[in-house]
Amino acid sequence: MNVSEAVRTRRSVRAFTGKPVDLDVLKSVLDTAQLSPSGGNVQPWNASILTGDPLAQLISAVAGKLPQGPAGQSPEYDIYPKDLPEPYRSRRYGVGEALYESIGIDRGDKMGRMMQMAQNFRAFEAPVCMFVHTPGYMGPPQWSDIGMWLQTIMLLLREAGLDSCAQEAWSLYGAEIREAVNIPEDHIFFCGMAIGCRDVNAPINNFAVPRAEVQENITYLGFPD
Ligand SMILES: Cc1cc2nc3c(=O)[nH]c(=O)nc-3n(C[C@H](O)[C@H](O)[C@H](O)COP(=O)(O)O)c2cc1C
Repeated sequence: MNVSEAVRTRRSVRAFTGKPVDLDVLKSVLDTAQLSPSGGNVQPWNASILTGDPLAQLISAVAGKLPQGPAGQSPEYDIYPKDLPEPYRSRRYGVGEALYESIGIDRGDKMGRMMQMAQNFRAFEAPVCMFVHTPGYMGPPQWSDIGMWLQTIMLLLREAGLDSCAQEAWSLYGAEIREAVNIPEDHIFFCGMAIGCRDVNAPINNFAVPRAEVQENITYLGFPD
């Protein structure tokens, strides 16, 4: 697999087979991802990778809070800016609509959507979930470094025949994650990443993910026509 294939075949996978993930493969991916660039070579990423009982215990602790809705949550940060303006708002809702449509959940089916959203807090049944944190004093440049590291991991996972879904949703349950993962007090929890083998037949892994036309994002200046 080359880099382009890894990029093209990566997608956020939200249904996994039960196949366990080999620790040596994970270690090799994380060792290689350590070569990711970061401003000033600060390498601000920190993570714990859970499987088996520790993951089951965290899932159970969060499940205990889900019935309380927002009252049971302890958000680490605002996931999106308030009143996200266009075109970002439509992009955000666009992928949500495509996802729910793929599994037959109607626009008006609030309970169905909530149940699907709650799958986040089971790591979509992935056998492994990584929990990422960084010191609270780190700013946007260092968060962007963490993003590069995460993408490097996601591509290396593809090369290893594995799949993933980055999960900011876990940040709603900072208290339970801090307890389970032993995050230092001065760190902020950023996101989870479900890791495992893609269920290739699951409709939720097969819908077309909309993308903006590249001209909306990129401007070329000074090149010949
Ligand atoms: C940092 C980050 C956090 C994300 N958090 C979630 C999440 O909590 N739950 C989820 O289902 N998808 C999550 N996603 C996946 C995005 O929805 C997905 O990347 C986007 O819709 C594009 O789809 P694709 O990854 O399949 O190409 C996250 C992605 C990133 C990069």
